[in-house]
Amino acid sequence: MLDNYGRRINYLRVSVTNLCNLRCSYCMPTGGVKKKEHRDILRLEDIENIVKAAVRLGIDKVRITGGEPLVRKGIVQLIENLARIDGLKDLSLTTNGILLKKYARDLKKAGLNRVNISIDSLDRMKYRKITRCGNLDDVLEGIKIAKDAGLTPIKLNTVLVGGFNDDEIEDFVNLTLEDDIEVRFIELMPLGETRSWPESSFVSNETVLEKVPILIPLPFKGHGTVARMYTLPNGKGKVGLISPLSSHFCNYCNRIRVTPDGKLKSCLHSNQEIDLLNAHPDELYKLIFEGIKSKPTKHNIGIKDTTLVYRNMNEIGG
Ligand code: GTP
Ligand code: 5AD
Ligand code: SF4
Repeated sequence: MLDNYGRRINYLRVSVTNLCNLRCSYCMPTGGVKKKEHRDILRLEDIENIVKAAVRLGIDKVRITGGEPLVRKGIVQLIENLARIDGLKDLSLTTNGILLKKYARDLKKAGLNRVNISIDSLDRMKYRKITRCGNLDDVLEGIKIAKDAGLTPIKLNTVLVGGFNDDEIEDFVNLTLEDDIEVRFIELMPLGETRSWPESSFVSNETVLEKVPILIPLPFKGHGTVARMYTLPNGKGKVGLISPLSSHFCNYCNRIRVTPDGKLKSCLHSNQEIDLLNAHPDELYKLIFEGIKSKPTKHNIGIKDTTLVYRNMNEIGG
């Protein structure tokens, strides 16, 4: 359906847990997060009902996120149930990749189409540092297994953090030379943990083009596009720039989100939420309709001028 600004909303992102097996410093507090009581999070059948209602409203693309979605009990069953919903054309998942070696094949069998995988450094020590506990080899193996299982096209997400991984831009771009994957650089956003980070941590994606000027722009796809796409000359893969700060893409936004505790967020950068937890299945259609109609026209975040989004990313799912 269309929102009040004529944008076609066809993409729902459902964060199925705020828990994670990593502790990325821009996303999670040092001490991790408290496990919520069962009654405070959506049950798997609630999620299924929400997706069904959303599909009746014209959603045809659903992405499962977290925290880390693969730590949620019953995740493969959930995917299997969602994959059966008529009218859903694209079912995907965003993961840190650590558990893909365990789940990739089952997820594919259950009907998952593809995965996006977060990886912020190609250096073992630096990867451990930013994730506070992760093992880079687990992710690299996960990427390979996901590819072999056919969870393609695979997209890698790299959040650019000034002074941390901006020296690895060329290495990430070079992954697309021989491999038909998509590497996407994401500008660090000031929300939750990062609201108090120094200005130097926020690097514009223009840096990527400065460091790799040979990148060739690909045609812009418009509606629903968050990444500007490029390719290396003779590169098999693609490079995407997701630039919420330096060039926000609100005009092309096609998405709404649901948090693990059942709040519908019609914009990532707004605190406006509609409660779906404990809603009767018959009410969901109306509530989601209202959420889409009240979607703000655009966000106004900037490095200095931050709105007061109090949720960390692990409670929204990106
Ligand atoms: P595709 O369907 O493969 O294009 O996936 P996607 O890019 O929508 O999903 P993914 O979870 O990989 O998103 C990548 C990252 O882009 C997110 O984690 C966010 O950091 C950022 N992002 C996604 N959507 C939005 C948005 O609406 N606003 C802003 N500011 N950032 C977003
Ligand atoms: N800014 C930009 N991206 C973020 N992510 C988490 N927190 C932030 C932030 N503050 C990214 C993760 C992952 C995706 C789900 O969101 O790295 O790729
Ligand atoms: Fe976990 Fe992703 Fe947050 Fe890292 S960014 S702590 S992998 S949810």
